[in-house]
This record gives sequence, structure tokens and C-alpha cells, in this order.
Amino acid sequence: MTNHTQPSLPPPALETLLEHARQAALHSYSPYSLFRVGAALLLSNGQIVTGTNVENVSYGLTICAERSALVAAVSRFGPEIRVEAVAVANLNSAPSPPCGACRQVLAEFILPSAPVIFPAADGPRVLTFAELFPLAFDMKL
Ligand code: THU
Repeated sequence: MTNHTQPSLPPPALETLLEHARQAALHSYSPYSLFRVGAALLLSNGQIVTGTNVENVSYGLTICAERSALVAAVSRFGPEIRVEAVAVANLNSAPSPPCGACRQVLAEFILPSAPVIFPAADGPRVLTFAELFPLAFDMKL
């Protein structure tokens, strides 16, 4: 029986995804926080789509790297996409798990078993999406 709480992607695939996230962070537009974030999504069609944080002088309009990547993925491949893995990186050597808003937005398209790798205080950490966000808002609940 498959245990859906265990991250399933082999470590080299996650390392590749992390490298895509690091590359995406190079494009960050973050003149206000100077916090440069990149995210990479592995889709069930095998494609990798990346995003970065894009800030605004009206601070609240900032979009995070994770949501940028998701919006790019749907725009490019359509609403049938499913996210099989997520990598988040930043160029500030700081912890950065996906924020709550990004978790809720990812929940719409991601498999609960999808591994999410992100920088924690003690190095990269991998959790399944279900572990990271156990109770998403869902009108079917
Ligand atoms: N940020 C992300 O890109 N992802 C997150 O999950 C949390 C925060 C960005 C938003 C803002 O540009 C900067 O990091 C500082 O909050």
C-alpha cells in the first residue's frame, strides 16, 4: 500500500528542482524587502515551471514566488495541471517555508503526497504538502 504521507520523489529529482528554484530567485524583484525567493513546481506532465517574488511599492500587492510559479504553470499548461513537487529557495540564507496564502493557493492544484522542499533553519527540509498544510479551506469539507 502506498503511504501518501511520505515524500515520494527521489532526492536527486528534488535537488534538480531546488536548483531551478535558486535560478528563479535570481530574477526576484524585491527592492523593498531585499528577500529574493524562487520557487519551482514539478508538474504531472513532467514540466518544471518556476516563479519568483515580485514586490510593489504598495507593499500588499506583492506576489510570492510560489504563487508566481503556480499562476505561470496554469497560464502555460491550463487548469488540468497537477503539482507533484515543490522547491523553494532564497538567496538570503534564511528559512523560508511557503507562507499561508501560498499554501492555500497551492492546495487547489497539488497532490497531498507532493514533497515540498524549503530552506529551514537547519538546512533544506522536506515535508509532504499534507504535512505542511493539513486543513486547507475547502467548501467540500
Ligand atoms: N515571499 C515569498 O516569495 N514566498 C513566501 O512564501 C513568503 C515571502 C516573499 C514576499 C516578499 O517579497 C518577501 O518574500 C518578504 O516577505
